[in-house]
Amino acid sequence: MADTASMAGKTVLVTGGTGGIGKATAVGLAVLGARVGITGRDRVRAEAAVADIRAASGNLAVDVFAADLSSQAQVRRLAGEVLDAYPRLDVLVNNVGGFWAHRHVTADGLEHTFALNHLAPFLLTDLLLDRLTGSAPARVVTVSSGAHATGHIDFADLQGSAGYSGQRAYNASKLANVMFTYELARRLDGTGVTATVLHPGVVRTNFGAEDQAGMKVILPLVRPFLKSPAAGAATTIYLASSAEVDGVTGRYFANRKPKTSSKASYHTGTAARLWQVSADLVGLTRSAEPDHVARHRSRPSPVEQRSALPSWLAHARDLA
Ligand SMILES: NC(=O)c1ccc[n+]([C@@H]2O[C@H](COP(=O)([O-])OP(=O)(O)OC[C@H]3O[C@@H](n4cnc5c(N)ncnc54)[C@H](OP(=O)(O)O)[C@@H]3O)[C@@H](O)[C@H]2O)c1
Repeated sequence: MADTASMAGKTVLVTGGTGGIGKATAVGLAVLGARVGITGRDRVRAEAAVADIRAASGNLAVDVFAADLSSQAQVRRLAGEVLDAYPRLDVLVNNVGGFWAHRHVTADGLEHTFALNHLAPFLLTDLLLDRLTGSAPARVVTVSSGAHATGHIDFADLQGSAGYSGQRAYNASKLANVMFTYELARRLDGTGVTATVLHPGVVRTNFGAEDQAGMKVILPLVRPFLKSPAAGAATTIYLASSAEVDGVTGRYFANRKPKTSSKASYHTGTAARLWQVSADLVGLTRSAEPDHVARHRSRPSPVEQRSALPSWLAHARDLA
């Protein structure tokens, strides 16, 4: 932690702070002195996590927010509660995400993986953006995965209706995290709010536990070789706190180092189209784009070629 700055006086929201990488991130940032808000679906479980984070960090300034982020109404309610609770917001960590082997549908009628992994951070970030820009310099840190490299944004079937594959949906959602971050960075140019995205490594968590299918067999075998949650949180904590990344925006990181993300992730036309489709799906009705947005609106470029889809696990390990 030698190159991480003290976070005293800073307020951070970590989505999915009840377990796994998010909880370890919350502990790390609380140790550095930040006020940390965590989110989880179940208030009792989230309150138990808050007690653990306080005990592990020695910092009592840890708050709980309960919301199921697969529901847009709950994302909106969460954002309202955060805005009421926090007069400033220095860092938003979009950490919630997961893998579902089978196709599930959210309360909004959308495919669950795309809705939770991509649309939820997209909407939450938008709803908190004025508070972040008002607190600038501020940061948006989004947890993606090395699995983004085999992702493809299929605009013809974003809802996975034509033959859902958990791996394909996950990879696409993680590519969407990277493209969202790059587009957000372009749109936030000049605001003092940075946007970065990361691969945490392959980490021993509850990842995929709700609907594992084939992973049930693989996971026990590879578990001993996976990173601890604390090690998996290191890059998120670094991007949220380190002075080394002051002003660094629109970059992908792994192991606390900037890395090149997949070729497809840099297609500005696809990113702009994904942004617009996502805004429509979450019902964002901002009537006017701020000047900096209009100035940086991307031009379309050819849609990327779809690449082969090896296992997310093997690929993520290669990229860790
Ligand atoms: N683990 C890995 O190897 C790995 C590798 C690459 C990338 N990642 C990424 O790292 C991030 C964190 O994953 P993890 O491994 O720490 O997963 P995890 O152990 O399953 O934790 C997921 C967190 O998200 C919350 N959550 C799940 N569904 C939710 C929903 N519908 N609404 C609100 N919160 C919800 C959970 O809280 P509750 O259950 O209490 O609601 C929990 O706090 C994800 O974005 C994942 O894609 C993980």
